[in-house]
Amino acid sequence: MSKNFANAPLPFQGQKRGFIKQFKEVLKTYPKDAIYVDLFGGSGLLSHTVKKENPKAKVIYNDYDNFKQRLNAIPMTNKLLCDLRVLVEGVLRDQIIPEDIKAKILAVVAKADKAGFVDYISLSSNLLFSMVYVDSLEALKKPKFYNNVRKSNYDATGYLQDVEFVKYDYKELFNNFQQVKNVVFLVDPPYLSTDCSTYNNYWKLADYLDVLKVLKDTNYIYFTSNKSSVIELCEWIETNTGGKNPFNKAKVVYRNNVATYKSSYTDIMLHKRYKTTTT
Ligand SMILES: C[S@@+](CC[C@H](N)C(=O)[O-])C[C@H]1O[C@@H](n2cnc3c(N)ncnc32)[C@H](O)[C@@H]1O
Repeated sequence: MSKNFANAPLPFQGQKRGFIKQFKEVLKTYPKDAIYVDLFGGSGLLSHTVKKENPKAKVIYNDYDNFKQRLNAIPMTNKLLCDLRVLVEGVLRDQIIPEDIKAKILAVVAKADKAGFVDYISLSSNLLFSMVYVDSLEALKKPKFYNNVRKSNYDATGYLQDVEFVKYDYKELFNNFQQVKNVVFLVDPPYLSTDCSTYNNYWKLADYLDVLKVLKDTNYIYFTSNKSSVIELCEWIETNTGGKNPFNKAKVVYRNNVATYKSSYTDIMLHKRYKTTTT
């Protein structure tokens, strides 16, 4: 039996690890043999969880960010981490890495970069201040380094096994499945007013609202947070303009997050079954 991952095997901003327990409960209310289309696949954690919970389901993971490339690069990333562990040996954990050692680290990374793909997001989480991510060698040169180097290697053995990988803009993927029976859409778009620096593009309000179209007359599990106010907005439109609210009759699950000691926010999962599906 392959491992059941409770979080993505590589660092990924916005992965739904905090919601997995509740997500599994919600999955029980959907058919075990449905087609699950993970429109905003990200790290694939939701796709992985569906396949583990419902082995008979067909699971389609939209790898828009090419996470697969990072997964395939794990042996190379682990080799880099091995070199880094030697270089930071004398530096206390979480402490700033002195400039001379930083220069040595950059030389090792530059060599790897010349040889092929380097997973800068994973490197960031080992070397930079918490939640700071870069995506190139040039960008890595600027910030201070901290010794957050992992003691253990990354391991993604069995992750996303038997899940189908595709790569589309979510609208195109949705169009391909909109008319198909027994489909459940997993809808976890980039949050509004969140740092999207590691994502491929920036989301403005219209983009965010466009996503609501995939909730019309479909089975869905949708993720948002109270920071976006999207639920409030849809309720307002329904009450004041008579417009349709895609969240009408949806069930809601909340989860409190403490981001820093000063700020906290609430993650929200809304789910609705629309069409008759087999059970
Ligand atoms: C909140 S994350 C999804 C996280 C995922 N559920 C997980 O647990 O890892 C949103 C993802 O949507 C991706 N994305 C952005 N624009 C997209 C588009 N037009 N079509 C599909 N995915 C897109 C982002 O790059 C990001 O990976």
